Amino acid sequence: MGNTLDQSFVAESSWKPDLFKNKVVLVTGGAGTICRVQVEAMVLLGCKATIVGREGQKTVDAAKEIETLVEHKEGETIVLPIGDVDVRNFDQLQMAVKKTVETFGHLDYVIAGAAGNFICDVVNLSANAFKSVVDIDLLGSFNTVKACTPELVKSKGSILFVSATFHYYGVPFQSHVGAAKAGIDALSQNLAVELGPLGIRSNCIAPGAIDQTEGFKRLSGTNFKEESVKRIPLQRLGKTRDIAEATVYLFSPASAYVTGTVQIVDGGMWHTGTYF
Ligand code: HXC
Repeated sequence: MGNTLDQSFVAESSWKPDLFKNKVVLVTGGAGTICRVQVEAMVLLGCKATIVGREGQKTVDAAKEIETLVEHKEGETIVLPIGDVDVRNFDQLQMAVKKTVETFGHLDYVIAGAAGNFICDVVNLSANAFKSVVDIDLLGSFNTVKACTPELVKSKGSILFVSATFHYYGVPFQSHVGAAKAGIDALSQNLAVELGPLGIRSNCIAPGAIDQTEGFKRLSGTNFKEESVKRIPLQRLGKTRDIAEATVYLFSPASAYVTGTVQIVDGGMWHTGTYF
């Protein structure tokens, strides 16, 4: 599988190898492309993780593969897979949090990463199609964080949402996801203010065009041309590692005074007002 991390991340990165020792993160969509690499980075830096997904076998396989990245005792759980969970179902998420605490003892961080998207013009976008994306992306993020919050209060933990940049300027055929992601930014901001006094930080990452990801494949389709990369100020597509590095920063003590922000990781692309 391309575009994943290995042990060289620890040696090459700016982070201490045991940065997240004794910490636990729960990640929805953790078997997917972007969120999987977020999990890999956290685990490589000492974190334990629960990955939650809709597809049972895919989630189990990803957990096993991520566990091989770090040395651990036989039988010790480093990555707990919880499949057959739909983020639209709050009860299933509450169960995932319960299993996480039973397995690891506590919960420090959450990444609300599960998302759904497709390209569709507004004339052909049914109300149910619009609702499906808003339900997965926005309501699903709310459900995830709501289910985790009682544990985050105990650990004075930290929340990370995964947003986008489309809603800053408007992109055709993406009205459903633009509306959902704008809601996620607003949700994060409000939670930062509400939960800050309890010691909980809430931030978003807004990825741009990240190579070899499900989202990028769906959005760039067959129209993607290599010369389009020249429209990105930093002259390359993003890597999942770029998102992983920002994730580590936003959970690390280096960002202890950072809350309610959206960290855009897009090579400067949205400033140009272009898209793929
Ligand atoms: C138009 C579509 C459609 C399409 C589904 N629908 N796909 N409409 N074009 N390509 C409509 C259906 O007809 C239906 O409406 C409604 O959406 C719900 O469809 P279901 O298949 O029943 O929904 P569900 O099984 O819940 O699937 C959700 C999904 C699907 C979002 C539609 O694509 C999905 O599960 N995706 C998960 C994987 C994924 O999208 N990965 C990409 C993540 S990347 P009707 O009216 O017929 O009932 C990402 C990045 C976003 O999200 C930001 C980028 C920067």
